[in-house]
Amino acid sequence: SPLHAFLQALPKCEHHIHLEGALTPAMLFTLASRNNVTLPQDDAAFASPEALLARYGRFTFLDDFLHYYYIGMSVLISPNDFELLAWDYFQHAAADGVAHAEVFFDPQAHMERGVSYATVLKGFSTARERAQKELGISSELICCFLRHLPVPDCLATFEDPDVQESFVDGSVRGIGLDSSEKPFPPELFEEIYWRAGKLGLRRTAHAGEEGPATYITSALDTLNVERIDHGIRLADDKELMQRVVKSGTMLSVCPLSNVLLRCVKTVAEVPVRKFLDAGVKFSINSDDPAYFGGYILDNYCAVHEAFDLSVKEWAGVCRAGIEGSWCRQDRKDKML
Ligand code: ADE
Ligand code: ZN
Repeated sequence: SPLHAFLQALPKCEHHIHLEGALTPAMLFTLASRNNVTLPQDDAAFASPEALLARYGRFTFLDDFLHYYYIGMSVLISPNDFELLAWDYFQHAAADGVAHAEVFFDPQAHMERGVSYATVLKGFSTARERAQKELGISSELICCFLRHLPVPDCLATFEDPDVQESFVDGSVRGIGLDSSEKPFPPELFEEIYWRAGKLGLRRTAHAGEEGPATYITSALDTLNVERIDHGIRLADDKELMQRVVKSGTMLSVCPLSNVLLRCVKTVAEVPVRKFLDAGVKFSINSDDPAYFGGYILDNYCAVHEAFDLSVKEWAGVCRAGIEGSWCRQDRKDKML
């Protein structure tokens, strides 16, 4: 349709994509076989890529998805595996008209399996360079901490010499906070975010996905975040919404993810119209495209079908996305 072409052509920025969430069932089975990784024998979902994909369609809540997400990434072993994964994502991003991508990764989930940070970073960095060269897609890496793990473990990862080096040399632009949201409120991670700020790192955190709006307040007050990932529960608190408008904090909204994880019943229930009317800045993102049945353009199309945004409104969403990005100003100027 003409609209699909219009949405495809918009200079889109993606701010909420977990690279491990771009692992398709096909690639999962290929890498499991190549790396001799045994998949769970007692779960019929792992009988075939088709069965696994069908299981993904029946997620009941965040932790149900995360169970499969952490098993899935256990097939990633070598730098080449991480490169393949990220390159597959960047090719989808190019087809969908992404100009700039700020991508999450979960180093703790790999390091605790004996895969080194250097291995992960090497694969992702190679794919990023190729995406810049061959696809014209610029990107930044955001290192996420797993909130279901003990805070001292997260601090130890933060202090790991290889991790520190990536923060200082600019290969990682910022930090995030993901995994099971409840009962792990943002304030638990104040120390890490304070140290990250001192290093000049950018800061975001998942908040208000399954958890309440008070988690958004805590992320702003105690973590000093510059963005909020998901943040759909913001619509429950009018005063907080006004605060977010004033501060210009951008939300990275993931509509198909919210439906698949049953945070909302339909895309129409995502507070897109409320955010537009109130002046809350947000971008539209895929979260874990291989698990939630769609890449970024599918999310744009779903939002359009549910809310029928005007051309001017779409241009505004994309402008907010560019301005809310953590790339250099000269890159922003090129996209604007
Ligand atoms: N890790 C990957 N996707 C996530 C999500 N939507 N929420 C929390 N943690 C995640
Ligand atoms: Zn996420």
